[in-house]
Amino acid sequence: MTKVTILGASGGVGQPLSLLLKLSPYITELSLYDLRNVEGVSKDLSHINTNSKCTGHGEIDIEKALKGANLVIIPAGVPRRPGMSRDDLFKINAKIVKSLVSYTGKFAPGARILIISNPVNSMVPIAVEQLKLMGKFQPGNVVGVTMLDLVRAETFVVDFLGEDSTLDKTKMDKDITVIGGHSGNTIVPVFLNKKLGETLKMKKCYDEFIHRVQFGGDEVVKAKDGAGSATLSMALAGYKFAEEILRSLHKAKSTMTTIPAFVYLPGISNGKEVQEKVGNKNLEYIALPVNLVYGSVASIDTTVLDNLTSEETKLLNIAVKELIGNIDKGKKFIIGAS
Ligand code: NAD
Ligand code: LMR
Repeated sequence: MTKVTILGASGGVGQPLSLLLKLSPYITELSLYDLRNVEGVSKDLSHINTNSKCTGHGEIDIEKALKGANLVIIPAGVPRRPGMSRDDLFKINAKIVKSLVSYTGKFAPGARILIISNPVNSMVPIAVEQLKLMGKFQPGNVVGVTMLDLVRAETFVVDFLGEDSTLDKTKMDKDITVIGGHSGNTIVPVFLNKKLGETLKMKKCYDEFIHRVQFGGDEVVKAKDGAGSATLSMALAGYKFAEEILRSLHKAKSTMTTIPAFVYLPGISNGKEVQEKVGNKNLEYIALPVNLVYGSVASIDTTVLDNLTSEETKLLNIAVKELIGNIDKGKKFIIGAS
């Protein structure tokens, strides 16, 4: 029996994410929770002829929504409008994430928790600190979803290589990964296949490629012109990440070479080694490729940090400086309030 709960299931991300998860063979119950329209969304999905049961839960029904969940995914919160940064969402989303994580700690204490709500760099520290405060924090169980950055990097690198490229966009995770965090300069694309990076440099489009990955979210916000931010590409990215957690829970083989996630380093076996390799012993959170065991992050794959180019090292140093502030803001929201 595997129960997956989506908190914020009726939203722009929540609905297509729920649809994709309804197709997963690893789920027995797909439990949808939202403050609005959840009955309609869950009824609609429940007509799909896959074997999972789909249940819908409104505001007063959160205990039922969460009870017995193995995996809880949180896309609840407000999205950006043009001219806003992800950090501008902090005030509203911090309250939402704090409250939903508290309920999760209370009603589904063993669940793996995936945070999609922005700003991810601050929301994950809020989730971890809130669970610690409740005595419910389980290392490796709480992660921020940064998979959309990898999905974008895989897409854009092939686009930049142009018509002469025979590369398959769906199989690029062996060639590239994305580390750091999930906002602007904290997003650091890293080439695992150094030749590809060199080719982009020869074509004089390396910098433009980095910029597109770092600010891909802004492109969508601008194009949607007030109607929100990325939803469909995020749903795919969230599904890809959730499916890896589910595969791990079911002891099925991963389909990816690297699985990036934003994680709490002190909760992970080789967290100290990561801090040393990044060159900052105080850095508590970072996105890196992770190794999953039974759906939890057991360790970090640090090989990516051993093979950075000088450009990638420079980008990572800039990212770390910004991350420290984002993380601190999230931590203070909980610790300052306790
Ligand atoms: P949306 O406004 O369309 O949907 C948000 C949903 O959350 C709504 O249905 C709303 O009713 C619900 N909600 C709000 N408060 C809630 C609460 N307390 N309990 C339950 N549900 C609640 O927004 P969206 O486009 O789906 O984006 C959601 C969040 O995801 C935003 O913060 C956005 O920035 C973020 N996001 C993150 C990534 C990423 O890569 N991590 C990508 C895209 C979007
Ligand atoms: C994205 O990267 O598309 C999301 O984080 C949404 C946003 O605000 O850009």
